[in-house]
Amino acid sequence: MQPSHFQKCDWDSTASEYSKLPKDGPLLVPCKRLLGAMHGTLSFASATTIIDIGCGPGTAVSFLIDGYGHDIPPQSRVIATDYSTGMVEVTRSRVETERTSGKENAKCWGQVETMELDAQDLSAFPSSSASHIMGSLVYFMLPDPQKGLREAYRVLRAGGVFACTSWARVQWMQFMDQAAQEVRRAAGSESVSILCWVSTIFKDELIDMVGGGKHSTGMRFFPKQWGDVAGVKGELESAGFRDVHSEYIDFDWLVEDPEAFAETMCKSSNPGTKMLLGDLSDEKLDRVVESYTRIVKEHGNVCKGVAVLGIGTK
Ligand SMILES: C[S@@+](CC[C@H](N)C(=O)[O-])C[C@H]1O[C@@H](n2cnc3c(N)ncnc32)[C@H](O)[C@@H]1O
Repeated sequence: MQPSHFQKCDWDSTASEYSKLPKDGPLLVPCKRLLGAMHGTLSFASATTIIDIGCGPGTAVSFLIDGYGHDIPPQSRVIATDYSTGMVEVTRSRVETERTSGKENAKCWGQVETMELDAQDLSAFPSSSASHIMGSLVYFMLPDPQKGLREAYRVLRAGGVFACTSWARVQWMQFMDQAAQEVRRAAGSESVSILCWVSTIFKDELIDMVGGGKHSTGMRFFPKQWGDVAGVKGELESAGFRDVHSEYIDFDWLVEDPEAFAETMCKSSNPGTKMLLGDLSDEKLDRVVESYTRIVKEHGNVCKGVAVLGIGTK
């Protein structure tokens, strides 16, 4: 059985909404750290081909151009890839808008190509053809992460750098699970949380969300090793990468308007939300929003996030 429950079509249907996530939301800190670590290992000034795997709506490419656009040589290729047609379309339209914007970095956006492909099959790329390969919040959710990593290793040139991030803790999903449990319990329906139920199926192979370690997580349904630094380091080393470094990236997601935040989060088309709340009626969903709002306020309007960065070279 595959550890990830997400399907390509789930990402297609959330692509447009995902692209509207606030720039200072949960993607910012892990993604900026990933790019900074890559640049520190092998400057983007020496990039020949940069590939973003599982690009979503162009998150990492956008931060890349904002932060390092002036470093990237004009002849190098920047390729944003995802297996979701919806995500690739959103990225493509972003590229078009930015390319013709007349802004300072418009020229660099003109270097960005988009491709629809599965992270586990990079046969569209020759071996040893890329200088930089990154995967922001994607490798841990692949059906076979090792297959994806080995493909990245093959495509990377000697001396090239690979980096990826995964989630170790996502408190905004933990709160959602907690709120849903409250509503289910009050309605007299099964009180067991969906996350607990999933964890029963996958047992120890999954990242532990509710068990109280510092880096317990909101993502029980992903392979456990992706939720800690030793596990991620091991994954990259198993795929052949050398000089592997991994670290936790802690941050607070400060919520300005808990009511609006709860409404957006609980009624999102994100596959994780659908998995937790997809079976609830509109009425129950409204109650989850109320509980979620209260929980966020109890935590000082802060949701904690912990990502894991893994980086290595070929
Ligand atoms: C959590 S989102 C991250 C998106 C983006 N990298 C970011 O940091 O915002 C996961 C992305 O991985 C993509 N994805 C999931 N499985 C994939 C696979 N097997 N091959 C390629 N992309 C995949 C999804 O379509 C989605 O866009």
